[in-house]
Amino acid sequence: MGNWTDTTPRIAIIGAGRLGTALTAALQAAGLTVSGPHGRGSDGAGADAVLLCVPDAQIPVAAAAVRPGTLVGHCSGATGLGALAGHEAFGLHPLMTVTAGGAVFAGAGCAIAGTSDRSLELARHLALTLGMTPFEIADDDRAAYHAAASVASNLLVALEGAAERLAATAGVPREALAPLVRASADNWARQGARRALTGPIARGDEATVALQREAIVERTPDLVPLFDVLAAQARTLTERPEPAPPRITRTIDGVRVLLDEARRHGRTIGLVPTMGALHDGHLALIERARADHDVVVVSVFVNPAQFNDAADLAAYPRGERRDAELAFAAGADVLFAPGPSEIYPDGFATTVTVSGPLTHTLEGEHRGSGHFDGVTTVVSKLFTIVGPDAAYFGQKDAQQLAVVRRMAADLDLRTRIVACPTVRDGDGLALSSRNTRLSDAGRRHALSLSRTLQQVAAAIGAGELRHGPAITEAGLAALRAGGADPEYFTAVDPATLEPVLEVAGDVLLVTAAHVEDVRLIDNLTVGAAAPASPSGSSTLDARAATATAAATQAT
Ligand code: PAJ
Repeated sequence: MGNWTDTTPRIAIIGAGRLGTALTAALQAAGLTVSGPHGRGSDGAGADAVLLCVPDAQIPVAAAAVRPGTLVGHCSGATGLGALAGHEAFGLHPLMTVTAGGAVFAGAGCAIAGTSDRSLELARHLALTLGMTPFEIADDDRAAYHAAASVASNLLVALEGAAERLAATAGVPREALAPLVRASADNWARQGARRALTGPIARGDEATVALQREAIVERTPDLVPLFDVLAAQARTLTERPEPAPPRITRTIDGVRVLLDEARRHGRTIGLVPTMGALHDGHLALIERARADHDVVVVSVFVNPAQFNDAADLAAYPRGERRDAELAFAAGADVLFAPGPSEIYPDGFATTVTVSGPLTHTLEGEHRGSGHFDGVTTVVSKLFTIVGPDAAYFGQKDAQQLAVVRRMAADLDLRTRIVACPTVRDGDGLALSSRNTRLSDAGRRHALSLSRTLQQVAAAIGAGELRHGPAITEAGLAALRAGGADPEYFTAVDPATLEPVLEVAGDVLLVTAAHVEDVRLIDNLTVGAAAPASPSGSSTLDARAATATAAATQAT
């Protein structure tokens, strides 16, 4: 066994790259007899030991050129000593980066190995001479050891490159990050990963993590998988359980990232488009979507394009926090709450139009034909963004439902349109986000809409009203008498929404009226009319018709 501290080994270094040059200089400076760096074909004549500082793939060839009887070592991290077969061999892998400017070996760790005690001791002696801390590494552990070294150095640099790119999107220079990087690495070295981990994940502040992730989705989407993996790793360090995936998103990319993942797992998606200010009518749609699908997306977007009245748009109730709580409690998985510029960025110039009487009568006539253009444009965008298997709409907006059905059929959309019955308060008032703007007196007047629909339905059922214009006249009069200011009251065909002149089969009664400064709409389907009763039993017939109307609604 060689005792290399007593003898002075003569060493030849082969390979004149960065590492060979740096090791030659450092060993010479430490007082060892070192020649080189020699070229790759050198046979190491005159040396006790040869140290190969050549690329991994060239080690066997370089080793084969060395004279038999000479100790041969290599400086590879990943390569085992088998590559030096035929020689008494050793490995010496300084765990330190070597750049064009050289390397500081003192203080570094150094992986050593040897096929004999003598060769292992030589490796240890060289490491210690350079001020490094040697540790033995077995051939079987080499790849794992080298992977750890790469993660700690090369991949860390790649990670900092990613941080640098993201920082640049906020106008923050690389230099500003550098002290933080040094301190973090230093803290890790001194305290270990768990104690060195700071920031929102360590604090359990997942809301902030979700915000950060949103920004990454928006600015550097290719970094999202990296962020997710590292965030999960950080949570493991803090032993915090994986939180539910972020559920409120403001961006189109954000929704897509979430839903692409769900789709990859074969999950079905239900969409409930809303303008927020959620009430039990909306929640019924969400619950229905929950029953039908694996993933439920609720969109909340007060769509400027469908408002004909700026004051109405401004007064539209908004409250995202409450909406989120209600939507999630009703079973939503994802809330998509974009701002106007996300849906209508600069230069937006496309409109989806359903033309004809379906959009030009009733709501279209009174709110302007642009109203339904606004609805169909935003709904088709939502369908494209979310890609739902089905979308849920309320019968409360009967014309909107018919228009959306027409659009989906005409454009061959894959999304199934599901209609849900109108949800009403106990007194019959159809729930609407706008009801919150009514005073107590206004609310009493608003009841005249549902009451009038019921009364007219009863009269139709009794055969007392059959003629379209007479139905309108009766309805308008009753609304006025009840304290509402009507825009229209019309009997229409439930499928085409064309006005009905003479009641023959099912009809849909539709109405819009103003109460205080609030515009309200409501509708009721009336089953086929019974023949007019010859004698005065209309009250009885009226009850029967009311029951039919209610039953029709509940389906
Ligand atoms: P919004 O008025 O928020 O209504 C969203 C959905 O809830 C619509 O499908 C509507 O018909 C349904 N809904 C409202 N009140 C209801 C009630 N009392 N019972 C049952 N369903 C009810 O309609 C819109 O938003 C927008 O036009 C939209 C489709 C989101 C496009 O911007």
